[in-house]
Amino acid sequence: MIRYRRSLTLSLFFKAYLAILNQFEQRKVPVVQKLPQQYQSASSGFHSKIPKSSQYFQVVPADQKDTDLVGRPIVHKSAFKQATGEAVYCDDMPHFENELYLALVLSTRAHAEILSIDASQALAMEGVHAFFSAKDLQEPPFRNCHGIIHDDEVFAEGKVTSQGQVIGAVVAVDQITAQRASKLVKVEYKDLEPVIITIEDAIKKKSFFFNSPKEIYQGDIEAAFRSANHVLDGEARMSGQEHFYLETHCTIAVPKGEDDEMELFCSTQNPSETQRVTAEILGIKSNRVVCRVKRMGGGFGGKESRMLVLSVPVAVAAYKLNRPVRCMLDRDEDMMVSGTRHPFLGKYKVGITKEGKIIACDIEIYCNAGHTLDLSGAVTERAMFHFENAYYIPNARVRGYICKTNLPSNTAFRGFGGPQGMFFGENMIREIASYLNKDPLEISSINLYKEGDKTHYNQPLEYCTLQRCWDKCLKTADYFNRKKQVEEFNRQNRWKKRGMSVVPTKFGISYTLLMLNQAGALVLIYDDGSVLISHGGTEMGQGLHTKMIQVASRALDISADFIHIAETSTDKVPNTSATAASCGSDLNGMAVLVIMSKYQNTAFDYQTCSS
Ligand SMILES: *[C@@H]1O[C@H](CO)[C@@H](O)[C@H](O)[C@H]1NC(C)=O
Repeated sequence: MIRYRRSLTLSLFFKAYLAILNQFEQRKVPVVQKLPQQYQSASSGFHSKIPKSSQYFQVVPADQKDTDLVGRPIVHKSAFKQATGEAVYCDDMPHFENELYLALVLSTRAHAEILSIDASQALAMEGVHAFFSAKDLQEPPFRNCHGIIHDDEVFAEGKVTSQGQVIGAVVAVDQITAQRASKLVKVEYKDLEPVIITIEDAIKKKSFFFNSPKEIYQGDIEAAFRSANHVLDGEARMSGQEHFYLETHCTIAVPKGEDDEMELFCSTQNPSETQRVTAEILGIKSNRVVCRVKRMGGGFGGKESRMLVLSVPVAVAAYKLNRPVRCMLDRDEDMMVSGTRHPFLGKYKVGITKEGKIIACDIEIYCNAGHTLDLSGAVTERAMFHFENAYYIPNARVRGYICKTNLPSNTAFRGFGGPQGMFFGENMIREIASYLNKDPLEISSINLYKEGDKTHYNQPLEYCTLQRCWDKCLKTADYFNRKKQVEEFNRQNRWKKRGMSVVPTKFGISYTLLMLNQAGALVLIYDDGSVLISHGGTEMGQGLHTKMIQVASRALDISADFIHIAETSTDKVPNTSATAASCGSDLNGMAVLVIMSKYQNTAFDYQTCSS
């Protein structure tokens, strides 16, 4: 940004100026004007304290068995392998015999009719084997669409509604050839109107996914607004964010050569969905497709559903050519095709008492979904469930709009709409504070949920420890003293500032679609006493497999050396939910535990085994 560079240049100049002034002073050169002491802060560092870090963990009871790892701080099972580079990610797998590489052909227009696609030049290149597009999926049993409302196309058909949309795929002997050839595929477009990019565009053009907004209503907002001392209007927005997982999307599809069997190695949080959609698109049964995930180099929600953008074309190519096909997206491709966190806009009216207690809120929440629905419905709902953050609002109306725009489809991203919702709540608190000329901390404080309060979605709060947590946090952080020191520091330093803030946060763990809160596990016990666990969750660095081993060590009363988790695979545990919604450990851990408790009375003699 120009403004940023301008201020950077100016600040560097200013630092140099200060440094030179200092030198003059040291050499006792008379200067025209000395700057006040507080201006010196631009050239001084923050060397007051050496950074320190510490890890806090619960201490297990003294009588807990040594083998029982639950509650103990143990090293992540892959930590050392990851640090040395030995850990195997999807694209680290050795090549399969006859393997080919795929490169996507992406739309360069936001909204356009496709007049023609000409792949002849690409196909003429040496080493190029095939080009696939919507034409190849037109005839049954194939299908070209997926998604909750079937609006995601494997290959764009007739028109494109976003840049970065997949139009086709080139398959060649290796990555370089495939990528070069994909650039030679000529696509002729005719631009179409309108091109809708922002939420504001969408509102103006009434471009929404559903005719009426989603709505939650609690209490009586009209009456509450009438009785409020003040009513404030406000608006807040939050923009998108790229997932930037360490490993970009990657899939290898390996046809087994008989009965339509296919194995998919995919970097995904959702192997079951990868399996199901692949089978649907190819018109074969799910029992022919296995999806295997060893680990991901991060997912953050970006691999909960959007892996399909790549995994399906790869599977289609492998199926049609009857050869293994691989593709790992380059970072720029990944950023182009995969969508981001949803940008949100919130418009609200909030009624408060003269002390700043919120008694009513009417809020409209808009999200920028991009060109297909994907998970935007659930993301919007989660924002609607979180807009009040940790504050009791007795009368509330929340309406959620899902804006359809000509952007790549935005998708799940850590918090799944929750952070965007909470951001609106915190914005209200700050606006109220500034209106009443009070510290936001005080406004937060008097609005916090209490035991027995009901949320706007009718959940009574039981065991509500919020106030206790809040008080303890302020106390242990020595908030008020340090706040004074911060203010003093800021008075004395013109260019360096310190800040301190306390923000409560609520997060609804688990899927809002209740049926997805289920998991399964398969536990194999071999006759040397070693245990192989498969469960429904995927490992993406968060340590899920490590936790499952902890659970198993307690349930089976054996040392963790005997327990191994190799991968997540749809032929071990079927019908799994994505590893998402912050509930991977709870759901899969319970599955592991339940399976084992069934066999608790079976006599496994681990003493003998371990000797
Ligand atoms: C399969 O998963 C769905 C949720 O996705 C769940 O409702 C259903 O009970 C599961 N079926 C079995 C047999 O576990």
